[in-house]
Amino acid sequence: MTSATGSTPPVRVAMLGCGTVGTQVERLIREQSADLTARVGAPVELTGIAVRRPHRHREVPEELLTTDAEALVASDVDVVVEVIGGIEPARSLLLAALRAGKSVVTANKALLAEHGPELYEAADESGADLYFEASVAGAIPLLRPLRESLAGDRVNRVMGIVNGTTNYVLSAMDSTGAAYGETLEEAGRLGYAEADPTADVDGFDAAAKAAILASLAFHTRVPAEAVHREGISRVTAADITAARGMGRVVKLLAICDRVVDEDGGESVSVRVHPAMIPRGHPLATVGGAFNAVFVEAEAAGQLMFYGQGAGGPQTASAVLGDLVAVARNRVAGGRSPRESAYAELPVRPMGQVATRYHISLDVADRTGVLAQVAAVFAENDVSIATVTQRGHRDEASLVIATHLASEDALRGTVEKIAALSAVREVVSVMRVEGEEP
Ligand code: NDP
Ligand code: HSE
Repeated sequence: MTSATGSTPPVRVAMLGCGTVGTQVERLIREQSADLTARVGAPVELTGIAVRRPHRHREVPEELLTTDAEALVASDVDVVVEVIGGIEPARSLLLAALRAGKSVVTANKALLAEHGPELYEAADESGADLYFEASVAGAIPLLRPLRESLAGDRVNRVMGIVNGTTNYVLSAMDSTGAAYGETLEEAGRLGYAEADPTADVDGFDAAAKAAILASLAFHTRVPAEAVHREGISRVTAADITAARGMGRVVKLLAICDRVVDEDGGESVSVRVHPAMIPRGHPLATVGGAFNAVFVEAEAAGQLMFYGQGAGGPQTASAVLGDLVAVARNRVAGGRSPRESAYAELPVRPMGQVATRYHISLDVADRTGVLAQVAAVFAENDVSIATVTQRGHRDEASLVIATHLASEDALRGTVEKIAALSAVREVVSVMRVEGEEP
């Protein structure tokens, strides 16, 4: 790829989107131009940036801006960086780029989780690169370690905090008692939240990331819709106070497990939900927009990845890392690893997944109530680990912790308990993670 004059021609880059992340990508490419040239072995030249409203982008040179993203992708560029977000037009633009042999760097987890196979296929057909490190856990190098460094190991579990917005909200509610709504607005102002923050609070963002993590970890296609998803919108200040009273903290967790049956059959379970974890657990101290992910692999043992999971400069760091990688490939030849989905493990329905629960009830304080409640647990084959009862006048609070029980059994138990005449209210039902059985 050396030109007639002996100098290497530039790697030409088109960028789609220039918001929280894109602005920082443009700045870093400009400010680190000399270093990038040295690291890539050729200049990295940003040839255009597609946006919707060019008048709002005074921070970037006017001549780079265009509203015609399609034409920009079709122009003479080697790499397309996508930081628009959402499914369309990002999907069509990236398919067009990959089919034309242009390498793609994207931060778009929603797109990867829903249309990853289609994008990989287009990349494979043309031999182009598809990199997406920024799509999960912001600045933290996590996908490349899973895809490349751990490619020779057998990963059994990936678990962690992968959404900065909800972690920011839950941390503030726990530490200052701040209200849910005002903290969420602040996360939006800081650039952590998605364009539509319900993607964060309802767990869609974390579920898309869990799908990507599980697919890489278990060499299996796990689509976003196969991920069990619960967000934080039903977590109340009372849940957080109750957790604090028990030396626990509430976190939104993404958990991807390899499940091996008694007969040796394997499946994967992938879930996103709030859970109480002990304050002494390493994930309990992960505050604000930080993310942390544990990976358990057979030979490597336990690994922990920690860092800023959202934010413009932080995410731009991951985008730039990918940009350097694909640019190097264009200069030196070669390409990134392909999709590895050979294991084709089935995804286990959530109803069959076993977790531990913490259930808080307000009940009438009279003889036989505890026995009635305990009988419902027994009928549904849910084993009780501990019961704490606190009485006040004619009412009592019952706090019940279970051993591992299937989701179906637990749901059935809670429904029947709620229907008991002695039960005034089911105050909170929350999973417990990070404790010894
Ligand atoms: P923003 O909403 O801040 O920016 C989106 C940009 O895309 C804007 O510049 C917007 O243009 C442009 N855009 C939207 N639609 C179009 C279109 N049809 N054609 C051309 N341009 C368009 O998003 P973020 O920067 O926060 O996020 C971008 C991506 O990065 C998303 O996939 C997100 O999930 C991901 N991500 C974000 C992180 C973060 O902390 N923010 C962290 C990790 C990943 P205009 O400004 O003119 O409206
Ligand atoms: N909205 C996402 C979050 C951005 O809060 O984690 C990072 O992917």
